Amino acid sequence: MFAPGGFLLLLGLIAPVVLGQFVPFNQSGFLFAYELDETDLATISLSFPDCQNGPLAGNIVCTASANYRDRTWGLINLLTIDELIVNTRNTAPGVPRLGLPPYQVWNEALHRLDQANFSDFVTFSRATIFAQPILSTAALNRTFIHTIADIISTQGRALKNAGKYGLDSYAPNINGFRRGVEPDYIKIVATPRRFAGYDLESWNGTSRLSNDLIISNQDLAGYYTPQFKAAIRDARANSFMCSYNGVNGVPSCANSYLLQTLLRNTWGFSNYDGYVSADCDSVVNVWEPHYYAYNLSVASSESLLAGTDIDCGHAYAVHLNESIIAGAVAPSDIAQGVFRLYSNLVRLGFFDWNNSVVYRELTWEDVVSTDAQNISYESAVQGITLLKNDGTLPL
Ligand SMILES: *[C@@H]1O[C@H](CO)[C@@H](O)[C@H](O)[C@H]1NC(C)=O
Ligand SMILES: *[C@@H]1O[C@H](CO)[C@@H](O)[C@H](O)[C@H]1NC(C)=O
Ligand SMILES: *[C@@H]1O[C@H](CO)[C@@H](O)[C@H](O)[C@H]1NC(C)=O
Ligand SMILES: *[C@@H]1O[C@H](CO)[C@@H](O)[C@H](O)[C@H]1NC(C)=O
Ligand SMILES: *[C@@H]1O[C@H](CO)[C@@H](O)[C@H](O)[C@H]1NC(C)=O
Ligand SMILES: *[C@@H]1O[C@H](CO)[C@@H](O)[C@H](O)[C@H]1NC(C)=O
Ligand SMILES: *[C@@H]1O[C@H](CO)[C@@H](O)[C@H](O)[C@H]1NC(C)=O
Ligand SMILES: *[C@@H]1O[C@H](CO)[C@@H](O)[C@H](O)[C@H]1NC(C)=O
Repeated sequence: MFAPGGFLLLLGLIAPVVLGQFVPFNQSGFLFAYELDETDLATISLSFPDCQNGPLAGNIVCTASANYRDRTWGLINLLTIDELIVNTRNTAPGVPRLGLPPYQVWNEALHRLDQANFSDFVTFSRATIFAQPILSTAALNRTFIHTIADIISTQGRALKNAGKYGLDSYAPNINGFRRGVEPDYIKIVATPRRFAGYDLESWNGTSRLSNDLIISNQDLAGYYTPQFKAAIRDARANSFMCSYNGVNGVPSCANSYLLQTLLRNTWGFSNYDGYVSADCDSVVNVWEPHYYAYNLSVASSESLLAGTDIDCGHAYAVHLNESIIAGAVAPSDIAQGVFRLYSNLVRLGFFDWNNSVVYRELTWEDVVSTDAQNISYESAVQGITLLKNDGTLPL
C-alpha cells in the first residue's frame, strides 16, 4: 500500500496557488547556492562497512538482532568530536580508523535516479526516467505512483550495491518506498521537501535563497503544511528537508517552530528518529542573504539547535567547532544529529552482512529486468489531462 501521505504531498507541491503576503526581502536575484564547492559536489567513493572483518565487526552496530538505537549509539559513542563534526555534511567522509566508509546524503530521485555515478559502460549506465510528478500525479492513481516508486527504489538499491548511489533521496515522490518487502528494513529513505512555504524559486527579481514569506496561521495550517503533516504523521517519511526561504522572519532551517514544534512534537517525527537535512547551502543562507545570523558559526548553531541535523554543504563541518568554543552548542547536540542520520542507515541495512538483506542482493539485472520502460510510458499516458475544451467535447 502506498501511504496516502505521499500522495497528498504531491498534490500539495503542484498546487499553483500562492497564499500569504509576499515580501521581496532581497532582490539581488540569487537563485543558486553560491558557497558550495567541489568538496560538496564531489562524487565520492561509496561502499558498505565491512561488518564481518572490519574494525567495527565486534561492535554492537554490527549486531543485526540488536535494537537500532543501541546499535547506532554503539557507533556514535566511538566518534570523537572532530569525527562527529565532519560527518554532518552531505559528502560525509566516514571514519577511516573505524572502517566507516564515506557516505553521500545528497541523492536525487524526483522522477528518476539522479546524482548517481552512472558509468560509461553498459552496466549501471542509466536509470529509467518517468514523467514529471506534476503529470504522473494527475492520474490520481496511488497504486501507480507506488509502482513507480518501487522501481526507482529498486534501481537505487542496485546502484548503491555497485557503489554508485546512496540510501536516501532528496525527493518527495517516494514516501511509499520505506514499505518494502522486508518489514525489518527501510528500502530507501525519502526526504519530502522543502519545508515550508517554498512556492517560489525565482519571481520578479527575487530569489528562493532570501525570500521571506509572511504566512498567516490560517494559511500555514490550511495550505502550506497539511501535505507535510501527511508525509510524516501518516506516511512516516524518515527524512525531511527545510527550505531556503524564511517564514515569518525566520529562515526555515533555523526555524524551531517548523522543525521542532510542528515536525517533531506535533507530527511525531521524533518518535522514529527521523533526520532533517538542510537544502544545499541553506545553512549558509541563514547568514547570507537572509542576514538572520551574524556569521556562519551562528548560522550553524542556530540551524542545529532549531532541528536541522545534517547540512548539505559544509557550514557545519567547518564552523561547528567555533560554535562549541563559543558555548553555543554542545558536542551532544552534534552527536544527536549524526545519530539520527546513522540510525536510519542502520535500519537500511548499511551495517548488516552482504546477503542478509534482500535489497543488498539487487544487481544491474534488477534494473533492466523490470517492466520499467512500460511503466515510464504509462506515467505519461495515465496523467494526461484536458486543459481546455473548445467545444469538441462531449463527442
Ligand atoms: C564512478 O564510476 C566510474 C565508472 O564509470 C568509476 O571509474 C569511478 O571510480 C566512480 N567514482 C567513484 C568516486 O566511485
Ligand atoms: C492505476 O495504475 C495501475 C498500474 O498501472 C493500472 O493497472 C490501473 O488500471 C490504474 N487505475 C486506473 C483507475 O486507471
Ligand atoms: C515586482 O517588483 C517591483 C520592484 O520591487 C514592484 O514594483 C512590482 O510591484 C513587483 N511586481 C509584482 C507583480 O508584485
Ligand atoms: C541582498 O543580497 C546581496 C548578496 O548577499 C547583498 O550584497 C545585498 O546587500 C542584499 N541587499 C539587501 C537590500 O539586503
Ligand atoms: C560569530 O558571531 C558571534 C556572535 O556575534 C561571535 O560571538 C563570534 O565570535 C563570531 N565568530 C567569528 C568566527 O567571528
Ligand atoms: C574549525 O575547523 C575548520 C575546518 O577544519 C578549521 O579551518 C578552523 O581553523 C577550525 N576553527 C577553530 C577555531 O578551531
Ligand atoms: C561482502 O562485500 C565486500 C565488499 O563488497 C566483499 O569484499 C566481501 O567479499 C563480501 N562478502 C561476502 C561474504 O559476500
Ligand atoms: C511492455 O510493452 C510491450 C509493448 O507494448 C509489450 O509487448 C510487453 O508485453 C510489455 N511488457 C510488460 C512487462 O508489460
